[in-house]
Amino acid sequence: MRNTRCKRNSDKNMNIKQIEEKYFMRTYKRGDLIVKKAKDQFVWDENGKKYLDFFSGIGVCNVGHCNDSVLRAAKEQLDSFAHASNLYYVPSQIKLGEELTKRIFPDGRVFFSNSGAEANECAIKLARKWGFLNSSEKNVHRYEIICFKNSFHGRTMATLSATGQEKFHKFFNPLQEKFVFAEINDIESVKKLVNKKTVAIMIEPIQGEGGLIPSKKPFLEELRMLCDEGNFLLIFDEIQCGMGRTGKFCAFENYDVSPDIVTLAKSLANGLPLGAVVAAKKCAETFVYGDHGSTFGGSPVSCAAALEVLNIISPKFLNDSLKVAEYLFLKLEDFKKKYSIVKGVRGLGLMLGIDLAINGSSIVNYCLDNGLLINCVHDTVLRLLPPLIITKEDVDFAVKVLSKSLNYSLVTK
Ligand SMILES: Cc1ncc(COP(=O)(O)O)c(C=O)c1O
Repeated sequence: MRNTRCKRNSDKNMNIKQIEEKYFMRTYKRGDLIVKKAKDQFVWDENGKKYLDFFSGIGVCNVGHCNDSVLRAAKEQLDSFAHASNLYYVPSQIKLGEELTKRIFPDGRVFFSNSGAEANECAIKLARKWGFLNSSEKNVHRYEIICFKNSFHGRTMATLSATGQEKFHKFFNPLQEKFVFAEINDIESVKKLVNKKTVAIMIEPIQGEGGLIPSKKPFLEELRMLCDEGNFLLIFDEIQCGMGRTGKFCAFENYDVSPDIVTLAKSLANGLPLGAVVAAKKCAETFVYGDHGSTFGGSPVSCAAALEVLNIISPKFLNDSLKVAEYLFLKLEDFKKKYSIVKGVRGLGLMLGIDLAINGSSIVNYCLDNGLLINCVHDTVLRLLPPLIITKEDVDFAVKVLSKSLNYSLVTK
């Protein structure tokens, strides 16, 4: 007992980093930043140092940190009630469901979850049940889902199994059956995997964690055709690339290819936890009472916030963000000429990747030291996911810091 008390006292002298180091499972490699506050496209640390946020908390705060109207709506809801249960009607949730479904599939249906992984879990279950009910041949149970190498769909067992990156699978076998993997932008690799058990194709229109790899339009068109011919579902995981990030509400609108199921999360409620699955008419009626559910899914507070997000990301708002995105893209393209370590720049709208010939972690740290938040995926791709409200002045600042960091990397190489 005495020993324990001593221990507690000694914990009191520990700083926040030491406490994290001692008590937290080692799942996150955190940057050297203790967040004090955030507003719009900026974040401040505990010493008052200001950072330009080109990461938005992994593509979450698309309309900016602490957006006034989003915050107001969330607070008003919180003052009325925080939770009621999905066994009753929650006005903010019902209204959001209507607005979101109308935007994506006017004759479809929605299900709300808390997170991206849960949204994808729901989409997988929906596809499986739809396959069960819609057999192409008598007595053939359809459940196989074709996914893609380098994809990322979440960390739960099913979404991990759907993720096409072995580094995430290590230690967690056996994975769930039956997810098979094709190459993005290679339709022949998809066709080879199609068989009578195929129930869906699941793809991020733009791979995020996989290195910012956009699908090509003819490829998505062929996927759509393949799904129609084989009578299976096309699922678009828009968790990272949706909600205006590419200049359209959903990224698939850039391609003019419509899926059967769309999953959203991240920026849906601009920082409050919320995920959604929107299904087209073809499969919207699949679930019945008891098939799926969630205690917190579609929280009244998150839904109130999300309704404001939908109000904000008007076509004009998105067009303005695209203008800044083009300005940024051109500046980044210049890096290719200036820095031998820059192999290319890719992405769509404000979802951009700088492909490097070196590991990018020192550049991320350099940017952090110099007041710019970015991150690195796939070891060598710098990922930029700024809030959609950034200005050209913000771009100039970010480009200046990135240039300095690339110069620094060349010198220290
Ligand atoms: C494309 C995509 N799908 C799914 C997820 C999982 O979302 P969450 O972390 O909210 O579970 C992510 C998260 O990064 C993602 O980028």
